[in-house]
Amino acid sequence: MELDVSYFSRLVVQPVIVVSTISPNGVSNAAPISFNAPVTTGPVPLYGFCCETEHDTWRNISENGEFVVNMVGKEFAPMMNELAADLPYEVSEIAHCGLTEEKASTVSPPRIAEAYGWIECKMREHVKLSERAVWIIGEVTAVAAKDDAFDENLKIERANPLHLVTAGGYIADMRKITKT
Ligand SMILES: Cc1cc2nc3c(=O)[nH]c(=O)nc-3n(C[C@H](O)[C@H](O)[C@H](O)COP(=O)(O)O)c2cc1C
Repeated sequence: MELDVSYFSRLVVQPVIVVSTISPNGVSNAAPISFNAPVTTGPVPLYGFCCETEHDTWRNISENGEFVVNMVGKEFAPMMNELAADLPYEVSEIAHCGLTEEKASTVSPPRIAEAYGWIECKMREHVKLSERAVWIIGEVTAVAAKDDAFDENLKIERANPLHLVTAGGYIADMRKITKT
């Protein structure tokens, strides 16, 4: 069947990450992001994502260039709407969701302890896509994973990486869509 071009993302199973940032006053912020991708592993490792310019995430990154890509599992699915809540600037979604902040090793924004992995980044480039959105490319400065979620490769059955089926729901098990 032929589909409208606006449906393109419905053909893609998108990994959901949670990006944490920090304000100049040191207050953390978190936002779920599905338009994201590893860009390249070398010579400089890069990770990219699309962010609306009105988001606190972009406000913080445009101030200090730093962010953490928190790799999250299926236990984050019920939290997605709360994590994406439009809270006032400098009210942290991390605290709002009862999640735990952990110090990152190379950047100021915190890691979210409940994630199964963390990719710390410093912005290297950004491309303005429209009045509304920017593609942010970060240089990866540190990477870590929970011991039980990684053994040379990601242990899928332990990490249960969360994915989004656009307009459908969330999946961590490729056979099952969970509506939230
Ligand atoms: C599953 C999911 C995926 C999302 N993906 C994106 C995305 O790729 N880019 C984006 O700008 N916003 C995305 N959002 C919306 C933001 O997370 C949401 O607007 C959030 O409030 C922005 O937070 P901030 O203002 O604290 O940065 C997504 C939300 C959800 C629930």
